[in-house]
Amino acid sequence: MSAQLIDGKAAAARVLAEVAAEVAVLKARGIEPALAVVLVGDDPASHVYVRNKVLRANEVGIRSLEYRLGANTSAEAVLEVVAGLNADASVNGILVQLPLPAHIDETRVLQAIDPAKDVDGFHSENVGGLSQGRPVLTPCTPAGCMRLLRDTLGDLSGKHAVVVGRSNIVGKPMAALLLAANCSVSVLHSRSVKPEKLCGQADIVVAAVGRPLLIGADWIKPGAVVIDVGINRIEENGRSRLVGDVDFDAVLPVASAITPVPGGVGPMTIAMLMHNTLLAARQQHG
Ligand code: GUN
Repeated sequence: MSAQLIDGKAAAARVLAEVAAEVAVLKARGIEPALAVVLVGDDPASHVYVRNKVLRANEVGIRSLEYRLGANTSAEAVLEVVAGLNADASVNGILVQLPLPAHIDETRVLQAIDPAKDVDGFHSENVGGLSQGRPVLTPCTPAGCMRLLRDTLGDLSGKHAVVVGRSNIVGKPMAALLLAANCSVSVLHSRSVKPEKLCGQADIVVAAVGRPLLIGADWIKPGAVVIDVGINRIEENGRSRLVGDVDFDAVLPVASAITPVPGGVGPMTIAMLMHNTLLAARQQHG
């Protein structure tokens, strides 16, 4: 048996088409949704991510503003940019690309963003809303994983879901979203003992640890649905390739459905960012 491939590109295209249609409705009312993206420093991967976010925004009719600041920019200068964007009523969404340079306190910057414009869902007000079961703006990658899971399984109620990884960006909000969808949720991390044992009982596995090929066939219950958030570059036989946290080739014959890397979760993250920008614009305009 071979697992069904979960096509993140096709799912993302569906979300983007929905968003584009809704953006057109807002524009007909004289509202043009706008997303500001702030990038500090010269991390090459971040530059690629930001370029893709801006391109995708323009494709769905969302106006984009880019702020590219040098690696030596002070925290105060970044906070000033954020304050200006908070005060600008024509800007609906603000995203500060992470990681920030080491001399800038990430939490301080993220907490400075107006929660109503926090399209990443990282502000404690939005994190609190999610954990108390009244989600408004939810983090894009976990929200994208939820779309893929619902497309694949329909109702998730009663499923045992295991999240591997406990980051603020993916693991923790993923667990909260699965709990809100009535799953029984376990979270595994670097200190978990025999993680493959608990993982091997899961109906749903979401891998988000950033450890290439960590999860092999012995971690997966036959028929489980596997969502791989990892994007890791490895060198193999003198060649570089992208792999997930899941050993795709090993797990393919065991799972019932699995996301490939690339082409699985990745495209969904940007699609959900556009979705959040639309939600933020709608909320700001009543
Ligand atoms: N860096 C890696 N993932 C993300 C994300 O989802 N949002 C932001 N702002 N930065 C990131």
